[in-house]
Amino acid sequence: MKELKVQPIKNGTVIDHITPGNALKVLKILGITEKYADSVISIAMNVVGKRGVKDIVKIENREIDPKEVNKIALIAPNATINIIRNYEVVEKYKVSIPDEIVGIVRCANPNCISNSREPIETKFIVKSRNPLRIKCYYCEREVEDISSQIV
Ligand code: CTP
Repeated sequence: MKELKVQPIKNGTVIDHITPGNALKVLKILGITEKYADSVISIAMNVVGKRGVKDIVKIENREIDPKEVNKIALIAPNATINIIRNYEVVEKYKVSIPDEIVGIVRCANPNCISNSREPIETKFIVKSRNPLRIKCYYCEREVEDISSQIV
């Protein structure tokens, strides 16, 4: 039987166990479309893995900074980051939700200063992780539906 497999990569970063359907949002949050124009990027969505359905993103020849990748914990809390060198996984870690979320999430309060013409980046304080609750640093409004407020 012929089977289409997602190819291993030689060097780079594999973001694995992404919540199914969220691979494109992960790329957007990481700004990969603009900054990584010269890297080969592979995306697999709704792949059946050992532990159920998942999305996978592979970025060749780039080792992504863990701090940057933690941003995706908001929409892919079970994601793992694998650093690949010469076909081997040399580092593996799970994403974790940072204490503060700068950028990425929009405040739903139209009167919030982060929605004014001022060049202010949005900032949220993480109130709890499970369930995830975040509150605007400026106006203190809590975000109801985080994934719909992602920039
Ligand atoms: N991978 C890759 N290229 C490589 C090595 C690994 O694309 N040269 C990918 C694998 O396909 C997998 C991820 O990187 O999606 C992690 O690889 P590995 O740790 O070998 O897989 P598992 O043991 O299944 O990982 P986990 O326990 O995190 O599910």
